[in-house]
Amino acid sequence: MNSVQQTMTSFDVMARRAEFPILQREVHGKPLVYLDNAATAQRPQCVIDAVENYYRMHNANVHRGVHTLSNESTDLYEGARETLRAHINAASVREIIFTRGTTESINLVAQSFGRSQIKAGDQILVSHMEHHSNIVPWQLLCEQTGAELVAIPIDEQGALDLAALDELLTERVKLLGLVHISNALGTINPVAEIIAKAKAMGITTLLDGAQALPHLNVDVQALGCDFYCLSGHKMYGPTGIGVLYGREALLDAMPPWQGGGEMIAEVSFEHTVYSELPAKFEAGTPNMAGAVGLGEAARYLQRVGLDQIAAYEHELLEYATQQLQEVKGLRIIGQAPNKASVIAFVIDGTHPHDLGTLIDLEGVAVRTGHHCAMPVTRFFKVPATARASFALYNTFDEVDRLVAAVHKAREMLL
Ligand code: ALA
Repeated sequence: MNSVQQTMTSFDVMARRAEFPILQREVHGKPLVYLDNAATAQRPQCVIDAVENYYRMHNANVHRGVHTLSNESTDLYEGARETLRAHINAASVREIIFTRGTTESINLVAQSFGRSQIKAGDQILVSHMEHHSNIVPWQLLCEQTGAELVAIPIDEQGALDLAALDELLTERVKLLGLVHISNALGTINPVAEIIAKAKAMGITTLLDGAQALPHLNVDVQALGCDFYCLSGHKMYGPTGIGVLYGREALLDAMPPWQGGGEMIAEVSFEHTVYSELPAKFEAGTPNMAGAVGLGEAARYLQRVGLDQIAAYEHELLEYATQQLQEVKGLRIIGQAPNKASVIAFVIDGTHPHDLGTLIDLEGVAVRTGHHCAMPVTRFFKVPATARASFALYNTFDEVDRLVAAVHKAREMLL
């Protein structure tokens, strides 16, 4: 055990590992080291059980039936909404809209808020480090409305250029959409401070929190944002479920995005009356099992404690950064002072895809590519990066396995 490991007495990572069945498996005859958590995290047994139990015991459509199963299913689904409300400290369950994930949440805001509020000549401000899901929905909106998409620059460390941001925050900007933690760089943006500036100018704010929820305590009221988007599968919950948080007054004033069952109070061929929040934005049969699993994932994070998770993962990140920097020719892409759980890197003379393939042969899973953030790889003038991303169940020994695999891959490729 090295000195960094000795500081980690309060976080019982081995107990956490035992809760994730997939971590028992082998890849290429070696114990799996799963370091692709920014793409999707693994699920603990309690989440798997919650989903299975829902299907075994309670499955029925929600809000529609008078029969027992339908009532149980509705209670579980609405219970999950309350769990998510409390988890991010929203003021009301009316502010929690279940969606398929962050991507759908942002598209909802772009098409509902955006199409009703944003006009030709207005600007939508995002940053150069956004995931495509916080770029493309706004480009579609710009094509539809004649608005303009503007990107806040980043610096060589992968941090936001805050001086440039100040200049870009003008009265033309109607919406600021910003990633809380960058999936490609790991940068934690100073979002509370930025939102305060935007708010003072009357600019609506949206945060992409897909990468933040597994690593940080998020309090939407303390942040002061108008919209916050999250994905279940990044925070140890199921795929195909996520949340759009929106301030109630804003959501109330927005037109529905999709039409169908659930989102109506009354329909005739002449006129439709829409449901109240949150149902107004949940057309069709929702992902009930997904919501139940997501609620369990949020409870799991609360039980383990996000402050403890953040402290442990920070030590892991520091250790991995230090060890990887010793690999000859390795360059870390993204060295902002405030980072969480992501190390993207390139090695001179090698292609990240070749690195990733050889690392996998050692049983270590990392992602290679542009990570759905092409403007970032273009900015750093690399075709792609290899990315190790950490979760609460990763260990210092696994970092050592990664570093050994990287050394071996480098030797084979050069
Ligand atoms: N956006 C996901 C990632 O960062 C898929 O890998």
